[in-house]
Amino acid sequence: MTRTVVGRGGLDPEASWLAAGLDHLAGIVDPDLPGWSRVGFSEQDVAGRAWVAAQMREAGLETHVDAVGTVIGVLPGSSPSAPAIVVGSHSDTVPGGGRFDGVVGVLGAIEVARALRRSGTRLTHELRVVDFANEEGNPQGVKLVGSRAIAGGLGPDLLGATDDTGTTLADLIAGAGHDPAAVASCRWRPGEVAAYLELHVEQGPVLEQQGASIGVVTRVCGISTFVLDVHGRRDHAGTMPMDRRSDAMCCAADAVLAVQRIAAAGADTVGTVGALTTTSPLTNTISEQARLTGEFRSPRLDVLRELQRQYAEAVAQADARHRTTSDLTWGHTDPPTVLDAALSDVVAGSAAAVGHDAVRLYSGATHDSVEMARLGPAAMVFVPSRDGRSHCPQEWTDLDDVEHGVRVLLQAVLDVDALPAGAGRPG
Ligand code: GLV
Ligand code: MN
Ligand code: MN
Repeated sequence: MTRTVVGRGGLDPEASWLAAGLDHLAGIVDPDLPGWSRVGFSEQDVAGRAWVAAQMREAGLETHVDAVGTVIGVLPGSSPSAPAIVVGSHSDTVPGGGRFDGVVGVLGAIEVARALRRSGTRLTHELRVVDFANEEGNPQGVKLVGSRAIAGGLGPDLLGATDDTGTTLADLIAGAGHDPAAVASCRWRPGEVAAYLELHVEQGPVLEQQGASIGVVTRVCGISTFVLDVHGRRDHAGTMPMDRRSDAMCCAADAVLAVQRIAAAGADTVGTVGALTTTSPLTNTISEQARLTGEFRSPRLDVLRELQRQYAEAVAQADARHRTTSDLTWGHTDPPTVLDAALSDVVAGSAAAVGHDAVRLYSGATHDSVEMARLGPAAMVFVPSRDGRSHCPQEWTDLDDVEHGVRVLLQAVLDVDALPAGAGRPG
């Protein structure tokens, strides 16, 4: 029999805590950046996480911060030997981001703990509520920092990654008051996680287009990032004929459009260029050097590899056209992640139990669930994003939709907790 907690699915009757929490975090933002910017390891990120930790404590969770800044709150279960049900997301944002990406999952997870406390419900499993450090990444090019550390993947190579000024990721983390040298202490043991459940805004148009209130994610994109350094020849812009130039900027422009052309030719593939910079930004001098950064995403690893092959070929062709030479360096590839089918079925059942017919969908955005899936079964609940917009100030999800997602998350926690060990995979 399905267990529920009393009163509007057990949530705060006015959803007032969720609304106030969204407003509160929207007030802790960088005034020098557009939108709602709480960039990982910034002053605002540290302040936001301190507030999140205080909310966890108020919800009755034993709370601590790990060596890279992930905030973890624990509600012990009645069986000390049972592995934890983990719920959470991230409270950092991209620069110029929105109010909902990540935040909905962190507040939703805390509200689940609050609802359990209000109703006096004691889970068998420990409930672990997590605000993962710096999911969105940094100028060093490393995403999912906190969850990577927990899953054991934040090694010296990634901690030593540098930004344009030579600052390492370890420096960045230490600058926010954490202890990256102790990253090994962040690691969770195999078998510690019964299930990982993450509530998130969809960040795309599918749920809205289908008129659906809840999505359950099938798989999360793989990402392959690159840096392209184009070497041309510095010459006078007024005197060197067009057909004798080695113009690094023109090759880079071709390479930008090649990303678009190659990605658009695939069914589920996307490709994006981030920065395009040159060391000679003068109109009267031909560019001798240009750098662009970019990424491809796909639900399939073999497709990602094929995109890499096609892009390398397109760059070679652009070099031939522009008499340039280029170095194409692929960064760390995050492979696509298939979320746990049995756990996702449980979550879809939880959604049905609280009145939502869940749509199954793919996520073209990445999530901490990718790393958590290494430690145990992982599933995600999506709620609609207005006009499919995200990573922009216009990002919006109605409070009613947030609340639906939290009710599904709460029900999913109860349903997973009630599974006999081994059934439906968790336990
Ligand atoms: C994070 O939101 C990403 O998908 O890069
Ligand atoms: Mn996110
Ligand atoms: Mn994001």
